[in-house]
Amino acid sequence: MTSTTAQPGTPYGTLPPASPLPQRRPISLPRLAQMRAAGEKITMLTAYDATFAAVADAAGVETILVGDSLGMVCQGLPSTVGVSLDTMAYHTESVARGVRRVQGTAWIVADLPFGSYHESREQALRSASRLMQAGAHMVKLEGGGWTAPTVQFLVERGIPVCAHLGLTPQTVHALGGYRVQGKGDAAAAELRRHALELQDAGAAMLVLEMVPAALSAQLTQELAHCHTIGIGAGQGTAGQVLVLHDMLGMNLGKMPRFVHNFMQDAGSVKGAMAAYVQAVKNGSFPDDAVHAW
Ligand code: KIV
Repeated sequence: MTSTTAQPGTPYGTLPPASPLPQRRPISLPRLAQMRAAGEKITMLTAYDATFAAVADAAGVETILVGDSLGMVCQGLPSTVGVSLDTMAYHTESVARGVRRVQGTAWIVADLPFGSYHESREQALRSASRLMQAGAHMVKLEGGGWTAPTVQFLVERGIPVCAHLGLTPQTVHALGGYRVQGKGDAAAAELRRHALELQDAGAAMLVLEMVPAALSAQLTQELAHCHTIGIGAGQGTAGQVLVLHDMLGMNLGKMPRFVHNFMQDAGSVKGAMAAYVQAVKNGSFPDDAVHAW
């Protein structure tokens, strides 16, 4: 007779022991290029700890961004400017442990925080190495123009780089607030020039944040070797990213127009993440009539 006694669960949501083999093929740069060539959208979500990262990985999210948005959603800071490299390394380690322990599939991107790559290319290399040793597969840095030689320096030394143009939150004070970028011919031409320079420097991914849909779709066509990942940039990009807390409806302020609350119709966090993946893949999110500029 089999016992009907319930087995005790592990406390505090403990992650299971490391699985011997990943159940899906780990995501790599060649795999992302294959997806793009096949017309399959790339999904990215932010995560800052082991459990959410493991759940996102299990829900099929291909790339996890340890964003410096953690300054706002985890630390309660007014912007990302106050986030330190130590904090980024701590959260990157946590995310990498979560991904490795459960599914082991997702590609992990970690943000280089404000002030950690601005001084010199050598400083950028030291900061990027710290995040790679914490478990990142790629680092992300914000801005165009002056950043291109830094990107090239890192890429030549074996560090994959994701660039970030449009609304770059680390420079929110210089930009005068969280507002759409690249509007008008001159601004669009400058953004395009920066994007092409970053691709030439070897950036393999480019986050486009709060950029007009038509501009980001045009850039996506032009950037054959650099996958555009949009947030508030319309549906014409190679992939999409959202901040975890926003897509779970946990934004304490005003929800940005480009966000959809995927938790609303899902029974669980994993369900919400899986719905996001499905919506990005089938093109129903973002809906340019609702989410784009
Ligand atoms: O830090 C972050 O979460 C980001 C996303 C908004 C793309 O950079």
